[in-house]
Parts: sequence; structure tokens; C-alpha cells
Amino acid sequence: MTSDTTDYRETGIEFPANFVFGSATASYQIEGAVHEDGRGPSIWDTFSHTPGRVVNGDTGDVADDHYHRLDEDLDLMKRLGLQAYRFSIAWPRIQPTGSGPVNQAGLDFYGRLVDGLLARGIAPIATLYHWDLPQALEDAGGWTNRDTAYRFAEYASIVGRALGDRVATWTTLNEPWCSAYLGYGSGAHAPGVTSPVAALRAVHHLNLAHGLALTELRRVVTNDADYSVTLNLHVIRGGGRGEDEAIRQIDALANRAFTGPMLLGAYPPDLLDDTAAITDWAFVQPGDLELIHQPIDVLGVNYYSTATVRLWDRSTARQTADGHKAAGGSPWPGADNVEFLEQPGPYTEMGWNIAPDGLEELLLSLKDQFPNQPLMITENGAAFDDRVEDGRVHDAKRVDYLHRHFVAAHRAMAQGVDLRGYQVWSLLDNFEWAYGYTKRFGIVYVDYETQERILKDSALWYSEVIGSRRIS
Ligand code: FCB
Repeated sequence: MTSDTTDYRETGIEFPANFVFGSATASYQIEGAVHEDGRGPSIWDTFSHTPGRVVNGDTGDVADDHYHRLDEDLDLMKRLGLQAYRFSIAWPRIQPTGSGPVNQAGLDFYGRLVDGLLARGIAPIATLYHWDLPQALEDAGGWTNRDTAYRFAEYASIVGRALGDRVATWTTLNEPWCSAYLGYGSGAHAPGVTSPVAALRAVHHLNLAHGLALTELRRVVTNDADYSVTLNLHVIRGGGRGEDEAIRQIDALANRAFTGPMLLGAYPPDLLDDTAAITDWAFVQPGDLELIHQPIDVLGVNYYSTATVRLWDRSTARQTADGHKAAGGSPWPGADNVEFLEQPGPYTEMGWNIAPDGLEELLLSLKDQFPNQPLMITENGAAFDDRVEDGRVHDAKRVDYLHRHFVAAHRAMAQGVDLRGYQVWSLLDNFEWAYGYTKRFGIVYVDYETQERILKDSALWYSEVIGSRRIS
């Protein structure tokens, strides 16, 4: 081991025997087969087929064709030695219009996936919502409509009854921050709405959906599953003028808007104040907070990079993007006075800064805020400009990225953080939302012409880490 304590490159790090190493994907990003076996359209089908929304006009129509290559992909996971696989279930495969009759063929697909994982000794971590809302529900208002939360609970109950004897961990939502603020605020994600009030309504209805779904799952699941939600909590640093105020505002919108109701049982009063000109939050009805505030066994943490903010000086500054594709609106309702600064490099292909110290800081801050809450990293990884050379992909930068972030996680554990596992984003190169297929996050390369899978050097490296439980 080196004595360097700043660069996160040390070796000889060991992970405990019960630490769960796995990898993650999401339905719309990998499955394809969008018209098959009764699947209905989702908001991402509509959005990606709308000209100008996704780079190159890419869509998830075929993606990694995972729907047809399930067994091959399961074998790949086994070959890597994954201990867990985090996948998401496409709601429009289960209920094509988001309510009403169950589409048995859709349920069967996920039944085969879960059985295939278990047969290979891989723990299934199932996310109920990774952004593919049935289009019919969006037509009725989507997440701005309270009824969507009740429809989600019904869907959770259907899936829970079908798979609730076999799934190891249930995750209600993936990154509700993105669903609410990118979907209804900035418009960079489906459904592409740009309305501050819609974004805040969506925040609450997603929180409510989480609470209602947990109640349903706990009612119908028969095994001893863990329950969780995955948040992309922001690590926010100060960049000068008015930084404490700028951090407070963004922390309220990005982090405490979710951890407040879910883990503490209340919306932060400063969030309500900051957004008072947009809404009086009357959509929060009596009893909602009690429903949302339920114990979870594990909090899922997705981490990629950090943000730096200060108050905007209108005379000199322009409001810079915050790492997400620019679209018409702002993802920060009520925070027009906050400026996001360029981050110091190095950067990944997304333009996101590489900052393993941010992961350590985030985990420690969660331990301080929620001392008894076990945590799991449900996504971490990086896009790089991968090339196939002689049948290999030498993605040294990704290996380095993962190495540093594993060390960061390990350091947090050494300081008392109860971290249960690490799901690398992503198993496969895939449809990266508004960036289409231009960003490769996989540890496995996908040739989109032939659908051939090639293990990148990072996959081989990860496989060794899992096998030895060490970074050497
Ligand atoms: C997260 C998403 C995931 C993937 C990564 C890069 O925000 O949850 O689907 O796109 O970013």
C-alpha cells in the first residue's frame, strides 16, 4: 500500500466477506423489443422518437437487444462472478397503459430473469421505476398527477406478488431527482416538460409513490427481502460569492426534497420558503408524509461527480450548465440566483469531473445525517471513448476510475459508514438517455451493429476484484 492518502490509488485494500459486488442496468437502456409481447409505449419511446430530443435521433427500439439475449447476458454476469445484478422492470411491459389488466408475458420475462440470476447464484436487485413511465399515464398528467402514485402502488403490488418470493432487494424509484427536475423542469429527459411548478408537483408525487409502493410490497412479498430507494444525492461545494446560501438552496432541492420526507418525515421548511412564489405545496395532503416516511433497509446511492455553486452575479456571469444536457428549462425551480461553476478536471466523456473524494464525502455526510441507515452504492461508473483493438478494449481510464472510487468507498467504511455493496454502472454499453449511444458506460462493450459483447479490461479487472475481494 502506498502512503498517499489523497489520490485514492492505494492497493492492498480488502472488502469484507458480506460486501456485495454487482453491476447495474435499466430496462429502457438495454432491452429493446419495444413492441414485443404486449409491451405498451413509455414516455421514453415517445421522447426518443421526437426529433431533436436525443443525440443522433437514437432510440431504445433495439438497444442491446437484451430482451432476446437474456441467457447470453446472464452467462456473462456469471462469468464475471457478479454477486448481485441491479436491473429495472419496465412498467409498460407489466401494464401496457399503466393501469388495468396485467400483461402476463411481461411478468414472465422478469420471472425468467430472476430465476436465471438465482440459478447462477446472483442476487436480484429489482428497481420498479427507472424512468419508463407508460405513455398513457403521461397523457393523463404523468407525475404531476397524484393518481400516478396510486397507479404505481398497484403496479408494485402486481410485481411484488409475482416475484416477491425470490427478489433479494426491492428498489422503488431510481433517481427521482431526474424524473422530476429533468423530466418536468429542464425538459432534458422525457416527457420533456419545462415548468417549475410541474417539477415540484412531480417531486411530491414521486415521494408519495415511493411510500405507497413500499406499503404494497411489504403487504404482498413473502420472502425476507430488503426495501430501498435509490437517490442521486448531490455533493455540493462552495465557489465563492454567497456560497453558503447557494449550497443551502441546491441541497434543499436536490437532496433534502427526498431525504426529508422519506427519512425524516417532513419537507424542509427552507425548501417550501424558497419555492413559495412557484407553489404553496397544497398538493401535499394530510397523511402523505406518514406514508412516505417508512423505514428502508438500505438507501441506494448513485454517485458520479460533484457540483460547485455560488450566487449569480447578473452583471458578469452566465448560468452554466450543471453537467446535464441543456434543454429549454431549468432543473432548479426557484434557484435562478444560483450559478453552477465549471468543475476542475479530469473529466469523463460526459464532461463530468472525476472526484472520488466526493464519494467519500457523500457517504460520510449520510452517516452523519442518518446514523443508522445502511447504504449501498447502486451506481457508479464512467463513460470513456472506448475502442476495440484486436478484439480487446483497453479501457485503462475506467479501471483507474473504478479503482479510485472503490478506495474512496473503502475509506468511508473504515470511518464507520455501513456500506453494504457496490453496483457498477453499467454492465453493458447502452442507451444513455438524451445522449443516445454516444456515451459508453459499460464494463462490457456492445457492438451495436452485431450485438456482440466484448469484455473490456475493466470487466476483467472487476472480475478479479470480486474473486479476491481485494484491490491489488
Ligand atoms: C444515472 C442513471 C443511469 C445512467 C447513469 C449514467 O443518472 O440512473 O440510468 O444513465 O446516470
